[in-house]
Amino acid sequence: MKTLKDFDFKNKRVLVRADFNVPLSQQGEILDDFRIRQTLPTIRYLLEKNARVILMSHLGNPGGKFVKELAMRPVAERLMELLGKKVELLENLRFNPGEENNDENFAKELAQKGDIYINDAFGVCHRNHASVSAITKYLPSGAGFLLEKEVTCLTRLSANPEKPLVAIIGGAKIETKVGVIDKISEKADFVLISGLIGKEVVGQKIVLRHPEKIVFPVDETGEGKDVGTETVRLFKEKIVQAKTIFWNGPLGKIENEEFAVGTEEIAKAIAQSPAFSVVGGGETVEFITKLGLVKKFSHVSSGGGAMLAFLSGEKLPGLEALR
Ligand code: 3PG
Repeated sequence: MKTLKDFDFKNKRVLVRADFNVPLSQQGEILDDFRIRQTLPTIRYLLEKNARVILMSHLGNPGGKFVKELAMRPVAERLMELLGKKVELLENLRFNPGEENNDENFAKELAQKGDIYINDAFGVCHRNHASVSAITKYLPSGAGFLLEKEVTCLTRLSANPEKPLVAIIGGAKIETKVGVIDKISEKADFVLISGLIGKEVVGQKIVLRHPEKIVFPVDETGEGKDVGTETVRLFKEKIVQAKTIFWNGPLGKIENEEFAVGTEEIAKAIAQSPAFSVVGGGETVEFITKLGLVKKFSHVSSGGGAMLAFLSGEKLPGLEALR
């Protein structure tokens, strides 16, 4: 896979696929610009190299048609504030049905706007879409700094973790997590799961590949809305031993402060650990941002579904296309 250092960008039009799929308020304000800020190193590098940068992204799921509330304007404005200069940002890629259909003609149309294509949108690499996949047939292509960092950190976690490796899988919807639990438990010493995931495993009679490594909560509070003190103690005991930690998904209903206690304790325990720590998933990242703990983690992944797909061992169309 080519990276930024492999190209000469001078006076070239560089088409950068970013993942600016940020949460918006009902009034259309950006609630969290983490994903925008994460692409700044690539954009700044290209500008320093005298490239003309053309950015493109999707925002939400407009379903192949124009939706006023999902126009890229707020993102472009935030980018200009952060960079202190005007940027060229194409309109929401998913306004065109060709994007999600990985349409060759749409990819060609996009490719005509640049001389080089850079993918810095790790969060979308699990999608076989025109701006991620088909476009690489029409332009010299490579990975931006963010994409490169994601692949390096997630490979270190999944292929070569320093042991003990402790994974913490929270949230709900076991069907979206079985792949990652099974794959990571090949290498992990312990996989700690939330009460809700635990109940789904039992209720749906799910057979996990390494049940001996799964640590279920031993108590709960708020009628199951949070893990109890004994569980927090047990989970912390595993976390302090770890040399590598992976965390995705809250351990309680954290939108209600009363039930965020267990998750906060676990977040702080990971933050204090000197282990190589990787965290990902929208809700989890938002939570550690609120606690001011982002800098205490070795790597905060910009991918939700893409990160889970990568760690499940799936081939990601966006990465395959660059290879
Ligand atoms: C994300 O939010 O995880 C990415 O931007 C991908 O979005 P999608 O799930 O709508 O494809």
